[in-house]
Amino acid sequence: MTNPRSTNDTRPAGIRRRDLMTGSLAGAVALASTRAWAQLGPTVPEHCVPPIPPGQPVAFSPVANAPMRVRKSAFELSPPEIEKLKSAYTALRNLAQQSPDDPRNWFHQGQVHCWYCSGALDGLWGQEIHGSWWFLPWHRSYLYFHEQILGSLIGDSTFALPYWDWDTPGRDRFPFDTYGQPSDASNPLSDKSRAIAPTDKIPAGFVGDRMMKRVLDAATFTDFGGSGDQSLGQNQMGILEGGPHGGVHVWTTDPKVDFNNPKPDMGVLASAAFDPVFFSHHANIDRIWDKWIKIPQSRHANPSNDVWLNQSFFFYDQAQNWTFIANNQMLEPEALSYRYQPPQQQPTPAVVAAAAPGPRPQVRLAQLPQLSAPVVDLSQSAGPKALTADPLSVRAAIPQESRQRLNAVGNMAAAPAGNEQHVILRIEGVEIPSDRGALVNVFVNKPDATAATSTDDPAFVGTIAVVANQARGVGHAHPVVRNFGFDITRIASQLGNTNEVTVTLVPATGYGEKPSAVNLRYNRVYIATRQ
Ligand code: C2O
Repeated sequence: MTNPRSTNDTRPAGIRRRDLMTGSLAGAVALASTRAWAQLGPTVPEHCVPPIPPGQPVAFSPVANAPMRVRKSAFELSPPEIEKLKSAYTALRNLAQQSPDDPRNWFHQGQVHCWYCSGALDGLWGQEIHGSWWFLPWHRSYLYFHEQILGSLIGDSTFALPYWDWDTPGRDRFPFDTYGQPSDASNPLSDKSRAIAPTDKIPAGFVGDRMMKRVLDAATFTDFGGSGDQSLGQNQMGILEGGPHGGVHVWTTDPKVDFNNPKPDMGVLASAAFDPVFFSHHANIDRIWDKWIKIPQSRHANPSNDVWLNQSFFFYDQAQNWTFIANNQMLEPEALSYRYQPPQQQPTPAVVAAAAPGPRPQVRLAQLPQLSAPVVDLSQSAGPKALTADPLSVRAAIPQESRQRLNAVGNMAAAPAGNEQHVILRIEGVEIPSDRGALVNVFVNKPDATAATSTDDPAFVGTIAVVANQARGVGHAHPVVRNFGFDITRIASQLGNTNEVTVTLVPATGYGEKPSAVNLRYNRVYIATRQ
């Protein structure tokens, strides 16, 4: 794994220059002078690659004696808190007008996200931080620097980003009072590419109780936040990213959730961070990571793998220093002087059970368990296979070791903590064209499942919700390839002696409809076991 950006930059000078000289930047600067904030978007930048490092990067160290920043629900901000948020984003946008080259300014802040969603794993275009175990720590550090910059621009060391808690019952909608009033160009928190109305609801398949229980019940970091072990071909997108995260992105610009026609800003990774609500959406993702870690289960822990712990990411800090921060410096929000104030509204019992705070945990790290070798590779023919708009069923064998264990204990998950066997359905090499997203619902032993089949059905095991990448320019327009893993232990433990299951992949919209056109491919579907 290469580091995302080192000082050994080998990119052709022309490409580096173009990154800073795109038409979108020129347009943004011209428009900024009219104070028409919302007119800055939508924009899908071209050729966004990390900047030429301006010199030796500075190692991050936490600000000494920093006051704790308290991140609150975007639905619970007081009018003065909303005003403060607006003044911070106004300052950030003013900076784009006054100092187009200042790396902290609004336009460059938005670009930072595009640097790292290239859909490639090559050093030339910047590291891809989606679809693997980089997803959570990279976005945590991105938000950290963004928040520091906003706070420093308004001289407020307690300034905190709000979180959009779409997972809190009754909050499955857009936080209009904070981010949408007024919804015009005079509001620095507005964005004209949004298409939702105050009454629109996020589909329950993305953020409903059952989905969120599935997320918080994820047994290991791999299941929850992804894994990145490229060498073993076991890198995987975690359920938090592949479920609620992707769905909410698309929904914000397209309440009908048609993954075929991605719309900037939130609907496309390359432009997502040009909508201020992006940072609130990701604060919630970050909060759910913190919540999952703090559930008192021994395996709810960050990876202990040195590759993960020592990985650094590069940002400009609030003093314009090119800074690198390592994952092991951000294992807990408190280490970065912020924390989450839980939603003050009473959560539902299901959520309470999962989230009951345990004793203050040590920072826990876990060795990520390995998957058993694939038992049956369903690809009879070599190469990827097409997945169209029609549901597709394939059969997958259950590894014999799992069957024996199932028969012995009846329920593998009942084994002593840490020793339980998990049965994992792997869907590998899903290729998604860069100009569209994907939503595929996955069912086990329900071959007649259709797009209308509810995600509350017991045979539903998970969803693949991928946001269009749409990074444009040379080298970007290739498909995004992702791997997924679904813990199907519960279903497998009820199968008795059956030695295979039917896996049905159902392309869908967020509203139970069959999508118009789907152009996906996948490589393998198989079942593996894992401790
Ligand atoms: Cu970097 Cu929500 O995506």
